[in-house]
Amino acid sequence: LTADHCGLSRLPFPDVTSQDFDFFQRLLPGRAVTDEDDLKTYNIDWLRTVRGNSKLLLRPQNTEEVCKILKYCNDRHLAVTPQGGNTGLVGGSVPVFDEIILSTALMDKVISFDQVSGALVCQSGCILESLNQYLEGQGYIMPLDLGAKGSCHIGGNLATNAGGLRLLRYGSLRGTVLGLEAVLPDGSVLNCLNSLRKDNTGYDLKQLFIGSEGTLGVITAVSILCPRKPRSANVALLGCESFSKVLQVFTLCRDHLGEILSAYEFQDLESMRVVQTHLKLTNPLQDSAFYILIETAGSCEHHDEEKLNAFLEKALESGLVTSGTVATDRGKIKSLWALRECITEALAHDGYVYKYDLSIPVEKLYDLVEETRARLGTTARRVVGYGHLGDGNLHLNITSETKSESLLAALEPFVYEWTAQHNGSISAEHGLGFKKRDHIYYSKSREAVQLMQKLKKMLDPKGIMNPYKTIPSAD
Ligand code: FAD
Ligand code: MLT
Ligand code: ZN
Repeated sequence: LTADHCGLSRLPFPDVTSQDFDFFQRLLPGRAVTDEDDLKTYNIDWLRTVRGNSKLLLRPQNTEEVCKILKYCNDRHLAVTPQGGNTGLVGGSVPVFDEIILSTALMDKVISFDQVSGALVCQSGCILESLNQYLEGQGYIMPLDLGAKGSCHIGGNLATNAGGLRLLRYGSLRGTVLGLEAVLPDGSVLNCLNSLRKDNTGYDLKQLFIGSEGTLGVITAVSILCPRKPRSANVALLGCESFSKVLQVFTLCRDHLGEILSAYEFQDLESMRVVQTHLKLTNPLQDSAFYILIETAGSCEHHDEEKLNAFLEKALESGLVTSGTVATDRGKIKSLWALRECITEALAHDGYVYKYDLSIPVEKLYDLVEETRARLGTTARRVVGYGHLGDGNLHLNITSETKSESLLAALEPFVYEWTAQHNGSISAEHGLGFKKRDHIYYSKSREAVQLMQKLKKMLDPKGIMNPYKTIPSAD
């Protein structure tokens, strides 16, 4: 997908001139990249479906440099796309035309960690997995986890309001983020970087930047509340014959494991097959229509195992689950998680992936997968459903060998209309980015979008921050 394919016109931002290059070269010696080959991976998204044509990549190391970059760009009216780990799945992190890419990759320092409160303060380019490893050494963990942890940045996580695998237990970033620092498009710094649990002084401005997808400014530092590292962790993978049983197991699970439950993920047989086929992962269970991955995290191994066993006994004897395996050691826990976490990577091996990330009332959640499968028949290579069931978040993915316009026409607006009719959201956790911007109206009223446009105009009057993304342009 390039801008040409969407019939989108480049807004009248000036081209980057040799004087501009010189300015940035002086400001960031050796860190203003213009080599076409070096720029390639920054110009294309993780799914390899959106491609821009930026001629300049900037790699600042601190907030002051970000201020100078944005002030210059704002004065010159040059467009900028902030980029973290470039793992976003909606095309938000890559330029659409020739926007300057501002990468946070070199802003990767931990600023402070409070051993008592668990408040971590760090620069926005820290990689999620590195932060988690740093914290584990201190008896803490990050409150979020996702399959892209090895590459995504904490700033990117905030900018997308990422959900992931631990949201069920620790809640959304809107609750765990204590503060942030952002550089506004005019180069000024908004310092909301406090580490207080409670602060009711006026509007909570940090929330505006959480989920803003680079359209309001650059997040440069983050303060986040981290939970203690659980002393005991268990994972169970269960096979289930029907989706209604998956739901009944969820209720049973909450009854028995309430306070130690840390993840309740599901995947269907087709998504299990895709990781077996393309990544050669081993499914330890017999074929089942559905699989459930349950994780418990608690403070007492003995108690946790006792609770888990009581739950498993009940689930098996009532016929709600047909097979199961439990892991307590790190290696086996990792391999069970891989079956769920690697679906995204495995699907990409099929060819083109049509990706939908939907919030749907949980009882209806799998109906959409079945209806889509029936609707597409043999025209799709694969139709799979998986996701964060405990959060009511379905990942519906359809694959084909190459991108097909007729398949797309069969999927859209069908998927969006279906979701809106069931009072769902067309983006549960991935954001809108470039691909889904114009579909916002399926989930938000005209009035709400107009207010977003006014806020955007107020903070970014020249529209230089990540243009063509997230909020439809006002007309
Ligand atoms: P990028 O992709 O670089 O950028 C994403 C958006 O944020 C862009 O609009 C960009 O302009 C903006 N941005 C980035 N950094 C900043 C900054 N410092 N200031 C302002 N704007 C910024 N997402 C989930 O929610 N849950 C999951 O479980 C999940 N699993 C994933 C698994 C895989 C294998 C992959 C590839 C992706 C997954 N994602 C998931 C999507 C993605 O990882 C998240 O959206 C993640 O938060 C993006 O972080 P990033 O650093 O890669 O950001
Ligand atoms: C996941 O939960 O695996 C991620 O959100 C990525 C995806 O939707 O494929
Ligand atoms: Zn997800």
